Amino acid sequence: MLDVREDFPVLKRRINGHPLVYLDSACMSLKPKQVVNAMREYYEVFPACGGRSIHRLGEEVSNACASARERFARFINAAESSECIWTRNATESLNIVAACTDLSAGSKIVTTSLEHHSGSLPFVERARRDGLKIEVVEARPDGTFDIEDWKSAIDSSTRMVSVVHSSNVTGTIAPLKEIVEIAHDRGALVISDDAQFAPHHPLDVQALDVDFSAISVHKMCGPTGMGVLYGKIEHLKSMRMFLYGGDTVSDVRYEEGRILPEYLPPPEKYEAGLQNYAGIIGAGAAADYLQSLGMDEIEKHERGLLERALKELSDMDHIHIVGTDDTNIKTGLVTFTIDTIGAAHDIATFLSEEYGVMIRSGWHCVGPFHYQLGIDPTKGSARASFYIYNNIDDLSTFAQGVRALIEMSS
Ligand code: ALA
Repeated sequence: MLDVREDFPVLKRRINGHPLVYLDSACMSLKPKQVVNAMREYYEVFPACGGRSIHRLGEEVSNACASARERFARFINAAESSECIWTRNATESLNIVAACTDLSAGSKIVTTSLEHHSGSLPFVERARRDGLKIEVVEARPDGTFDIEDWKSAIDSSTRMVSVVHSSNVTGTIAPLKEIVEIAHDRGALVISDDAQFAPHHPLDVQALDVDFSAISVHKMCGPTGMGVLYGKIEHLKSMRMFLYGGDTVSDVRYEEGRILPEYLPPPEKYEAGLQNYAGIIGAGAAADYLQSLGMDEIEKHERGLLERALKELSDMDHIHIVGTDDTNIKTGLVTFTIDTIGAAHDIATFLSEEYGVMIRSGWHCVGPFHYQLGIDPTKGSARASFYIYNNIDDLSTFAQGVRALIEMSS
C-alpha cells in the first residue's frame, strides 16, 4: 500500500473530534505539499505574467509554464506538448470540442446514458443549435456497455463520439480502445472524458488513439480551476477558436479602417488572455507527484481499497450498490443507496457529522443514468471515492458509520 499521508497536512484535521476521513476525491482530490509549494514559489518568487513580459520575472514564468506543459504531456503520453491546452476544468475542455469542431448539419453525435452532464450537454446543445442528430448508447444497469450497441449507433453519418472513460457514478471503465476503433473505422472522432480516469490509471492517449481527452487537474492532486484538453495536433490546428484575444495572435494589422488578425497555432490559439500561471505550475507539479508514486502503484492501492469497501458494504442489509462490483473494470469508488434512508444527503450528513467521513451525495451530475435505474434524482445516491491517501482505517470508519446509520433507521 502507498504511504503518502504526511504529504497531505489536511489529514491531521479532526471533525467533531473524529479524525478526518476524506472519501470524496472523485469530486475534488486533496493537494499534497509538493503541489502547494510549487504554487507558493510562483506567488513568492516570480509572480508575474507569462508569454508577454520579457523581463527576468516574466521569463521565469514563461519557462516554468512551458516546462509544466511538457511534463503534463509526458504524463498522458501526448506526442507533443502543444497537444495539451490548459483549461479551467474538464467541462471547459468538453465545451471547446463541442463548440469548435466542424460538424455539418445532418451529421450525428453519439454519446451515452452514463455521461456526466458535462460530457453530454455541450453536444446536446450543439446538436440543437446546428440541426445535428444525437444518438444515446444506453449503459447496462451495472454501468458496462454492450459493444454491439456501439457498432449500431456509430454509422457513416457519425462525426463525433463523446464517451466517459471511467464513470463518476459506477466507476466502470469503458472499452475505449474498441470504441475508438469502431469510430475511426466509420470516420468519426472520439473525445473521452478522462476526469475520473486520469487521476487513477495510467493514461496513454497515443495508445488509445483518442482524438481528444478532457482532464480535470483538480481531481489529480492539482489546483482547483485547472483542466486540460488533449487534442491531436491536426484537429487542434483545424478547429475554430473558442476565445479570442490577447496572446492568441502573431499579428493584428490595421489597414484602411479594418482590423486584420493572424492567429498563432495551438496551444496559444486556445489560451486567450492572462492565464492561471500558479495553476499551470501546480498542474505540472501534480503530474510529477503522481508520476513519482507510479500510476501502476496508484491503481493497485486503490483496487485494494475498493475490494475492501465492496466487501464491507455487501455484508450489510438494506444496501444497494450502483454499478458493477468487478474491480477489474472499476475505478476506486462505490456508489450506493440505503433503502431505509430516503435521501442520500442524509447519509452524507450523518457520516460527516457523526464520524468525520466526507462522501458525496446527490445525482453526481448524471441525471439520465439515475432516471434509467429508477433512482429518484432528488433523493440521489451516496458515493465514497478513494485515492492515494486513503487507508484501511478510513474504510473501517466509513463502514462503521454506515452500519450505525442502517441500525438506527431500520
Ligand atoms: N464530477 C464531479 C463528481 O463526480 C464533480 O463529484
